[in-house]
Amino acid sequence: MKNPIIEDLEQRYTAKKYDASKKVSQQDLAILLEALRLSPSSINSQPWKFVVIESDQAKQRMHDSFANKHQFNQHHIKSCSHVILFAHKIEYARSDFGAVIDQGIEDKRMTIDQKEAAFVAYGFVQANTDDKGQHRAWTKSQTYLALGNALHTLARLKIDSTTMEGVDPELLNEIFADELAGYDCHVALAIGYHHPSEDYNALLPKSRRALDEVITVL
Ligand SMILES: Cc1cc2nc3c(=O)[nH]c(=O)nc-3n(C[C@H](O)[C@H](O)[C@H](O)COP(=O)(O)O)c2cc1C
Repeated sequence: MKNPIIEDLEQRYTAKKYDASKKVSQQDLAILLEALRLSPSSINSQPWKFVVIESDQAKQRMHDSFANKHQFNQHHIKSCSHVILFAHKIEYARSDFGAVIDQGIEDKRMTIDQKEAAFVAYGFVQANTDDKGQHRAWTKSQTYLALGNALHTLARLKIDSTTMEGVDPELLNEIFADELAGYDCHVALAIGYHHPSEDYNALLPKSRRALDEVITVL
């Protein structure tokens, strides 16, 4: 299909080896971070935090988080340009939603008189409370929307990426305890530019299930 959106999605793929000499520009990084901020979420909850790992020191901490698990992803950390931790809020309190409403007032989506009525949407959060009184499954789902948005944005920017669910949440949350306080990270995204000769995935054709297997039009 000849269409710029489809062409972007066809050319993007998961990089398996990065060229350590190439870095994402601050200008492109700013576009990506703004795209993350603009990601949609249920009731506009935005129950996420994105930790951008850029410095050598932060990369060393990220590298160390693979000490026990998923070492197959570890080599990306020092060769890619940046890593972004996608973290979801463990407990999404009424006050968290209050901050979203206050921002809505500041952005002139509603008036202060409508504030109390706006809290009715918090019922979605209450309906998604687990038996520990937490909201992990619901907040994590929202965070994956931001991940999808990031992958599409990166495709447009022609920046390579590697989504990594192969992280060690336990150690990661311990090593980044200060930055992730109140949040949990189960997925990270390496970004950069693939190695010109050592990225086997760059040459493989895209493979997906057939359209009629995944889509039903009624
Ligand atoms: C949620 C998620 C987790 C993933 N985790 C890893 C991972 O830990 N390591 C890895 O090399 N690829 C990982 N991938 C990449 C997928 O295997 C890849 O997206 C899929 O095979 C489709 O291939 P493509 O991205 O090249 O089109 C992950 C992708 C997603 C969306």
